[in-house]
Amino acid sequence: VKKGNGIKGLAESGLQSVPKQYIQPLEEQMDMQNIVTNEFIPVIDMSIGDDDDDHNVVKLICDAAEKWGFFQVINHGVPVEVLENVKVATNRFFGLPAEEKMVYTKENSVTNNVRYGTSFVPEAERSLEWKDYLSLFYTSEKEASAFWPKECKEQALEYMKRSELLIRRILEALMKGLNVTNIDAQTSSVLMGSKRINLNYYPKCPNPELTVGVGRHSDISTITVLLQDDIGGLYVRGIDGKGWIHVPPVTSSLVINVGDALQIISNGRYKSIEHRVVANGSKNRISVPIFVNPRPKEMIGPLPELLAMGEKPIYKQVLYSDYAKHFFNKAHDGKKTIDFAN
Ligand code: SIN
Ligand code: FE2
Repeated sequence: VKKGNGIKGLAESGLQSVPKQYIQPLEEQMDMQNIVTNEFIPVIDMSIGDDDDDHNVVKLICDAAEKWGFFQVINHGVPVEVLENVKVATNRFFGLPAEEKMVYTKENSVTNNVRYGTSFVPEAERSLEWKDYLSLFYTSEKEASAFWPKECKEQALEYMKRSELLIRRILEALMKGLNVTNIDAQTSSVLMGSKRINLNYYPKCPNPELTVGVGRHSDISTITVLLQDDIGGLYVRGIDGKGWIHVPPVTSSLVINVGDALQIISNGRYKSIEHRVVANGSKNRISVPIFVNPRPKEMIGPLPELLAMGEKPIYKQVLYSDYAKHFFNKAHDGKKTIDFAN
């Protein structure tokens, strides 16, 4: 197998079974008996407006963020061709010859803000994840144009830009649900202080039942906007921690999930829910999340507005960059990251 072509190279070498470092311990293998089939993640139509009392978008978003921590949105205002273009760009990037991708690895990349790799934190993992990724931390248009790979930079930037209004609408709805009315999501360095976009590539896997595409984790974002293709494989922990619910691909939709930062800021009202990805036995899958994060140098904690209303803080204040460092220094471990703010 040619070095530097990641899991994709491994998968394409025609192997009949995965090397043993990709075999998960039994307790991390997906138990297909444990799939919940009678509960569904909400799909919210963003075009229905905010005024009708029973069906207004604000209420649907807040209810979903409280109960499920996950929902999908349709008629969300991000043009379909923007989504299609970013999927094409993702395939184009991972289709590059190994040596062209290798310039973006941790060892080789000229900037920490652009990284190509496999798994999550290989140094810390007992078993590796069946996944390649390109991670792009956005600082400025100028830096992105200079350093992001040309195969995907325009499409990734366009997707990021065109989803800005949707992100803002969702965060403002979530603040409304908390009766917090004095925060402008767009300019808030807590709610929308920084962004990271990942291009994920999950090659088809000869033993999907023994491996994970991504292990159990919750995101550390305020919210994550996720574009997935039509393959499927994303599962969310069911209500009361029971079983796993599939997030089915819905044409032209985006998946939205609550991250730890929003759980902390909302003092536990909105939940960041554990999720995982199962690789596919016959097809490659791609996904493209945008992580909407606090600014790294921001202190995060339960909003002062909530405490002023009499709530007792259930999390302490933490520096967001410390929180992120904690997350990125260990393997995926379910919901454990949030203990850092306890
Ligand atoms: C993730 O949550 O890390 C990836 C989600 C996906 O690929 O669907
Ligand atoms: Fe995630």
